[in-house]
Amino acid sequence: SIPPEVPVSSLDWLLGNWESVEPGKGSYPSLKDFRYTEDLHFAQMGQPIINFMFNASDAETKKILHRECGFIQMQTGTNRVAFIIAQNSGLVEVEEGELVGKKLSLHTQALARPSFAKEPHVKEVWPQCGLSLTSHKLTHVTLACVGCRVSLIIKKNPQVSRVFQLQPDGKLEQTLSMSTDKQPMTQHLHITYSRLA
Ligand code: HEM
Repeated sequence: SIPPEVPVSSLDWLLGNWESVEPGKGSYPSLKDFRYTEDLHFAQMGQPIINFMFNASDAETKKILHRECGFIQMQTGTNRVAFIIAQNSGLVEVEEGELVGKKLSLHTQALARPSFAKEPHVKEVWPQCGLSLTSHKLTHVTLACVGCRVSLIIKKNPQVSRVFQLQPDGKLEQTLSMSTDKQPMTQHLHITYSRLA
């Protein structure tokens, strides 16, 4: 069956400016719990595309911790949504997912980072070397050569999974989980926003 046409206007409920009602909760097994505030800005700029900007700060020191900006697109004739995201950490992400009612569920589709990002990054696989896939895990793949015994671990981290949901009281809720090379998918952030007048 043909899915009903869901234009970008079906994201109208996101448009405008939002601010955390009370500090959001940040956590991760490798981190000390933290509190943060965040403002969100969604605007449509004359195209069927939404521009967005998110600014998160430490709730006590007000120091800026995290920033994201980008574009939201919808696939014509479907409820598929894509967030094209640049983050101040250097991470560039495409997240994709579905809009169901006023709930937006997204998951990492592609990841990139600057060449000088901290982790080692595989740039080339020597073609004469008989590298082949030896294990495929949620967070990394391992390639190994039975001849020269070289093995490469290619990290796929972090994978991000998040949900934006409009609550019946008009507040917006975001829950974000991620996996890294050390942790399976675990909650990192939870926060609720109210719309600014
Ligand atoms: C740490 C990813 C959003 C605050 C981290 C780490 C990763 C990460 C991979 C390191 C975890 C570790 O060391 O095991 C992300 C991603 C985000 C995101 C992919 C969005 C898609 C945010 C937001 C905040 C935040 C919105 C809000 C304040 C922090 C803090 C740390 C952290 C405070 C600890 C930093 C440190 O110890 O230096 N994040 N994060 N993150 N994140 Fe996020």
